[in-house]
Amino acid sequence: MGKNKLTKFAETYTFPNFVQPTREEVISQGFSLKGNWHTFFKNDHPIVLELGCGRGEYTTGMAKMFPNKNFIGIDRKGARMWKGGKAAIEENMNNVAFLRAQIDMLNYYFDTDEIAEIWITFPDPQPKKVNKRMTCRKYLNLYSSFLKAEGTVNLKTDSQMLYDFTMETLQSLQYNIRQNVTDIYALPSVPEILNIQTYYEKMWLEQGYRIQYIQFMLHG
Ligand SMILES: C[S@@+](CC[C@H](N)C(=O)[O-])C[C@H]1O[C@@H](n2cnc3c(N)ncnc32)[C@H](O)[C@@H]1O
Repeated sequence: MGKNKLTKFAETYTFPNFVQPTREEVISQGFSLKGNWHTFFKNDHPIVLELGCGRGEYTTGMAKMFPNKNFIGIDRKGARMWKGGKAAIEENMNNVAFLRAQIDMLNYYFDTDEIAEIWITFPDPQPKKVNKRMTCRKYLNLYSSFLKAEGTVNLKTDSQMLYDFTMETLQSLQYNIRQNVTDIYALPSVPEILNIQTYYEKMWLEQGYRIQYIQFMLHG
């Protein structure tokens, strides 16, 4: 980790909107906000997650659009989330939190029906490790342990391989695919929520990649 990253990482421990218990604490003592995230936000508004949020552009972007929802950006890299955390503090956004955690441990952090919606933005396609793809069956199963029945999962990706894999997985599970857009920027009018661009999205767009979007439910 470079010096700048180390400085940022250290600074995240002073951010009131950062939550980062150690893995060991969570496993041995449990996690006090599990089932109690409303106490963190001090309201009962719906909670939306961004998985693998990086710098947190979707987390902060959606939080501005929907002040009556709460947003939690999740990533294993604290120095990356620093940018979103800092922006949310500077703009007094009380409906934003960042959680440093591994996606495969999310059932330790969220309780049944605690989450209203999930966004997965430009995840690593993991060409060689099917079980690490954020839309593999194992992960969809994990998400269903805390996503409300009426909740949706939203995937934005530049990767044709990940898009095809996700569609095949959803079709074989007979899950409800609510939206399937194979080129967001070819739409006659791009919905505001799909127009938030992350660091990785900008990079892929510059290289000429098409951006695809799938919105689905975790049942038929
Ligand atoms: C390609 S980047 C995309 C970041 C951001 N969403 C964007 O579009 O700019 C993927 C992100 O997922 C995070 N990530 C990958 N696997 C993860 C895991 N198992 N648990 C938590 N974060 C993970 C990485 O640290 C990285 O920040």
